[in-house]
Formats: sequence, structure tokens, C-alpha cells
Amino acid sequence: MSLYYANELEALKRSGRYRSRSIDSGDVVDLASNDYLGLAHNAALRSLTCNDLAAYEIHAPKASMLVNGYHDIHRNFEAALCAANGFEAGVVLGSGFSANIAMIEALVRKGDALFIDASYHASGQLAARLVEGEVIVFAHNDPEDLRTKLFTCKAKRRIIAVEGIYSMEGDVCARAIFDLADECDALLIVDEAHSSGVIGPNLMGIFDHYAIAPRYNHIKMGTLGKAYGSFGAYILASEHIIDFLINRAKPIIYATAPSLFDTLLGHHALVYIQTHTPLLAAQIALNQALIKACLGLTCKGLIVPIAIGDNRRVLEIQAHLREAGYAVGAIRQPTVERAIIRLIARLGVPHERLSDALGHLAKLL
Ligand SMILES: Cc1ncc(COP(=O)(O)O)c(C=O)c1O
Repeated sequence: MSLYYANELEALKRSGRYRSRSIDSGDVVDLASNDYLGLAHNAALRSLTCNDLAAYEIHAPKASMLVNGYHDIHRNFEAALCAANGFEAGVVLGSGFSANIAMIEALVRKGDALFIDASYHASGQLAARLVEGEVIVFAHNDPEDLRTKLFTCKAKRRIIAVEGIYSMEGDVCARAIFDLADECDALLIVDEAHSSGVIGPNLMGIFDHYAIAPRYNHIKMGTLGKAYGSFGAYILASEHIIDFLINRAKPIIYATAPSLFDTLLGHHALVYIQTHTPLLAAQIALNQALIKACLGLTCKGLIVPIAIGDNRRVLEIQAHLREAGYAVGAIRQPTVERAIIRLIARLGVPHERLSDALGHLAKLL
């Protein structure tokens, strides 16, 4: 048997970048996943979804939304998301990864320019390689660099892509970027994978956080695989943009419609967040205060990124914490430039366990 990729795999091992999958045995406390609100552990939401789904004739979408895969479950969730976030229209997708491919590949056309944050998620970076327009990378969360690049560009349409809370840095998108987009009439794509459900007085994300009423140039993408404790994604925008995406975005046209179970579970999660907002917001604030007390870090969301810079050292720290009973992320290249420990201070972890884990981490640093 030929080992076609032996050299590449060996190189990954030598540089400490080799990865493998393991099944979570459940014997350690999960401080690595993106289940920010603990909803993936919420058995009541699961039962509710199973019961509701049983009332329908089908449990799988069977076809693309443009054939006959579009279902009441999709439409109702889109309507609820629009109402909760103040957008005109929405479309659900199978995942956040395909939502980024869908939006960026379809919206950035010949003669257009995409301005993408240097730290934008890999799915957006991949999509940027598929577009026919110009791609301009701006310095991470830097409105001044973006301003310079925007105002020297002669493209027909300008499209900016940012994240609400950045997945690896944990920082919040600068408000000035929203103002800049309006000032030069650029479309603004906001990937809210890590901000929806976590920030804003209603926990709806970055628009809510800054009290920005969505405008015709705003596009919000959210994932269901993180705070919503499910799987899938959605895009919210003006009727006009959603109409265009439904007609041009390949992951919408050529993929089976999103899972009915996951979409319905996402809908129940939205209602749960809306009906438990003060409680969830208080628990988030409590965890953020604990992070500040133990590590001296101010976190706007629930991502605690610790810069380490050495691939082997992050793996050692991760192993020490595992021995102490805690799972955290050891994030290396190409996900980040320099290795970090990524701890998620998610809700549902008892306060004393989170405090103990943060204490262990502080000692290891
Ligand atoms: C910022 C960001 N966008 C998009 C995605 C992809 O979302 P999904 O996991 O739903 O495919 C992720 C997932 O890690 C992410 O962190």
C-alpha cells in the first residue's frame, strides 16, 4: 500500500501540529466546547424537540429548499429569528461553514471588493479564494487600516466581513467598523458564531450589544452549533439580499435543506434564551467576574484565550489540566499564528469547578 501523504503527516508530527480525534469520555469537565449556555446538555429541550417533531409526517427534509425540502419548521424559525433580531428576512443553512461559503462566494462578484478581517474564520478565508472580485485583508479588528483600504478602493461594490466576537482572540468587533460600513455604503457581513446568545442585553449578539438597528447594508450570520446547542446556521438580511442568496448561493441551492430536528432544536433554544435572558446574562457576568479574579483578564464573551506561543507547551498545559479533570483547547497553527490555550467558561459548569480550573491554569502559567 502506498502512503501517499507520509511526508506531510511526518512534517505535521515534527512541528507539533498533528491532530487526531478522540471521543469525549465524559470523565472530565468540558471547558473546550462552544456550548456557551450549556444548552447542548439540556435534556428538556431535547425531549421537547423530539415530541414536536413526532407530530409531523416527515422527520427529514428530503431535498434542497428550492425543490421541496423547505418546511414549516424552517420557515417558522426564520420568522422567529427575524423578529428577535430586527431583520427583514432570513434563510437557514446546514452549517456556519457553508453559510460563509454561501454568502461570500455569492455576494462578491466581478468588479467588487471583499475586505476581510485577517482573523476571520477559515470558512470565510476559503470562500475568499473562490470569488471573482478583489480580496483585501485588513489588520485584525483595526478600523483605521480598514478605512485606508476602503477609501483607496475603486470597486463597484464594497463588502466587509467581520466577526461579532472573534473565535480565537475573544475580542468584540469594533463599533467603528459598523460606522465605516455605513459611511461608505458598504455591505457588512457579521459572523456571529461566537456572539449570538452571549452578548447584548437580549443576548442576541453584536447588533444588540451596540444597540444598532439592522439596516439594508447589514448581513448577520449565526450558527446553531455553539450557544444554541444544536447544529446548523442562518443568515439574516434585507429581503433583497436574502432573495439574491436563495437564487445564487450554491450551498443553499445544491444542498439538502437543513435537518428538521436540528432546526427545531435551534428554535426551542431561541425561545429558551428569550425566556431566560436575565438568568443567563447574570450567569455569564458571574463567570466573567471569576475569570477576572483568577487570571486578571477582561472577557466580553465566554472565550478565554491564553497566549502561549509554543506548540509543545500548549499540549503540556492541556495534558496537565486533563489530569486535574478539565478539558480545554490547545489551539495551534493553522487555526492561529501562535499557539494558545482556549478555555470556554461555559454555563452549566459548577462555579467551584470553573474556579478550580482557572486556578490550575493560573499556576501553570
Ligand atoms: C467564527 C466561525 N464562523 C463559522 C464557523 C462554522 O460554523 P459551523 O460549526 O456551524 O459550521 C465557526 C465554527 O467553528 C466559527 O468559529
